[in-house]
Amino acid sequence: MGCVNHMKEESCESLVMNGQNGQTDVLEPHEWRHKTIVAGVEWKNPVGTASGTFQLDACGDYYDVSQLGVICTKGVSPVPWEGNPAPRTAESPAGMVNAVGLQNPGVDHYLVDELPRLKKLGATVVTNVAGHSDEDYAQVVEKLADSSADMLEINVSCPNVSHGGMSVGTDPKALHRLIANLRAMTDKPMIVKLSPNVTDIVEIAHAAVDAGVDALSLINTLVGMRFDIETGKPIIANRTGGVSGPAIFPIGLGFVWRVRQALPTIPIIGIGGIDSGEKALEYLYAGANAVEVGAASLIDPTAPVRVARELDDLLDSRPDLAAKLANGQTW
Ligand SMILES: Cc1cc2nc3c(=O)[nH]c(=O)nc-3n(C[C@H](O)[C@H](O)[C@H](O)COP(=O)(O)O)c2cc1C
Repeated sequence: MGCVNHMKEESCESLVMNGQNGQTDVLEPHEWRHKTIVAGVEWKNPVGTASGTFQLDACGDYYDVSQLGVICTKGVSPVPWEGNPAPRTAESPAGMVNAVGLQNPGVDHYLVDELPRLKKLGATVVTNVAGHSDEDYAQVVEKLADSSADMLEINVSCPNVSHGGMSVGTDPKALHRLIANLRAMTDKPMIVKLSPNVTDIVEIAHAAVDAGVDALSLINTLVGMRFDIETGKPIIANRTGGVSGPAIFPIGLGFVWRVRQALPTIPIIGIGGIDSGEKALEYLYAGANAVEVGAASLIDPTAPVRVARELDDLLDSRPDLAAKLANGQTW
């Protein structure tokens, strides 16, 4: 999950390694039959990793990372962030709750380490951008503007001090201001990753599109928590966290469908609870152009490639959908 090994907290890598229990096979490369195009960028297949759930050092041993549609990185901040205290995760029915807190080594490290390593391996890279203020986001985007990143994904679910501590993803005006500012800084294809923790997702999506983004991705995690019944206290040190995994699959689908009904032409990347080609296909029918696989990778690091292969097979018998995808449209 883009976290660095020298940071002492419960690491993202340990989550991945615990999940696969040493039983994961190394996957041989695959000839993809069905590609897609998102905001002018060709994806070798419609499946990428979801931010925060892929780490090159943990996953690169199991598959050729250039095989994926894209690799979406852990959130990158202007300076190193240590993340939240442990415990940072809790299991939940058909999913998990996490409050990793965007631990990452910062944009300068990213530019000389993770990004060149991913590009050298032939990956198409979506750089996820994190910030606690509008200025934070601007600093990261400025440094990424001339980088080799193929796309930027702006995570607007982070608490934002420019917006009274609330995430800008919950307020259309604040979101429009932030994105219009970032849009003016770079021509790189820009995705805004929407938060589901809102009353009206369509209003928020319109604000992002009006500010000039090229694509939307949704959903990020939903706010949740677990309690330890012996102590009566929250399990996660941060108390609340974000819920992900199969439990949020129908919720993500519903969000994607509503945004697609309202915005027929904007490229959409569907996220939430995807762990099979069938579930990815449902997102495409809901109106997504592509998908990202998140928590499933923490159980099996090869999950995104497996989902992509299953989807490739399913698209063989759906030529109309495959043709639309190849042209960058599913609606
Ligand atoms: C451990 C963990 C870390 C995450 N870190 C990020 C992050 O840095 N930036 C971001 O935009 N989303 C982050 N997410 C959210 C995922 O990218 C995804 O939107 C969410 O988990 C829903 O998809 P899923 O059900 O397939 O996991 C994280 C999720 C998990 C489980």
